[in-house]
Amino acid sequence: MIWKNNISDNFIWGQDISNREQKEIVAQKIAKLVHDNQTIGIGSGSTVFLALKHIAQKVKEKELTIKVIPTSYEIELACISLGLTITTLQQERPDWYFDGADEVDPHNNLIKGRGGAMFREKLLLKSSNKNYIVVDKTKMVAHLGEKFKVPIEVIPEAINYVHHSLSKMDIITIDLRMATKKDGPVITENGNFILDVKFKKIKSTYEENIKNIVGVVASGLFQNYNISIIRP
Ligand code: 5RP
Repeated sequence: MIWKNNISDNFIWGQDISNREQKEIVAQKIAKLVHDNQTIGIGSGSTVFLALKHIAQKVKEKELTIKVIPTSYEIELACISLGLTITTLQQERPDWYFDGADEVDPHNNLIKGRGGAMFREKLLLKSSNKNYIVVDKTKMVAHLGEKFKVPIEVIPEAINYVHHSLSKMDIITIDLRMATKKDGPVITENGNFILDVKFKKIKSTYEENIKNIVGVVASGLFQNYNISIIRP
């Protein structure tokens, strides 16, 4: 039986998509990598959403059978609305994974997590042998932290301890991310808070250093990962 009014059927992307032309180009490049019988890990963000639309079109036209593992509710709703078959990491390992990014440095290190989904994004990326990061040209930076702060997902109970521990690093600001259509802080899909941190300089050990603080679930720093960058 199916729901008469499935809320996902009317899913639309909530915000304007910046640099849409460039994002459409990389979205099409990702769709070309899709083949029959693959299970694909799906990141989050507007570039990923555009890629999903191209993937769904290809699946329909070529009558492919694929399964997807989404990293956020936003992308899960998009997958449902586009008629893609969803599976989970408990059931399957992705053949490959793709995602967007907020910043990419010349060594392919990343800042991600504007959408707050960095824990599942990192989990999927680690779980997959082949990873593609799709970015428009505005995402390329000489040094991480030029444009974006580093988001850090923290268990609410540990927020002061994590804040105290981060303060010992080379910090400029630490902000608790606040919600816009809800009172109080943003609550992640794992029920946690997000601290957005501006560092003076992001060192190569920072992802590990931050992860070692008790109470940190994941940060948006992705340093030394096995990824291929796809640009326009
Ligand atoms: C979400 C992310 C996104 O991949 C990143 O913010 C890029 O988003 P967009 O494609 O909308 O520019 O990390 O957590």
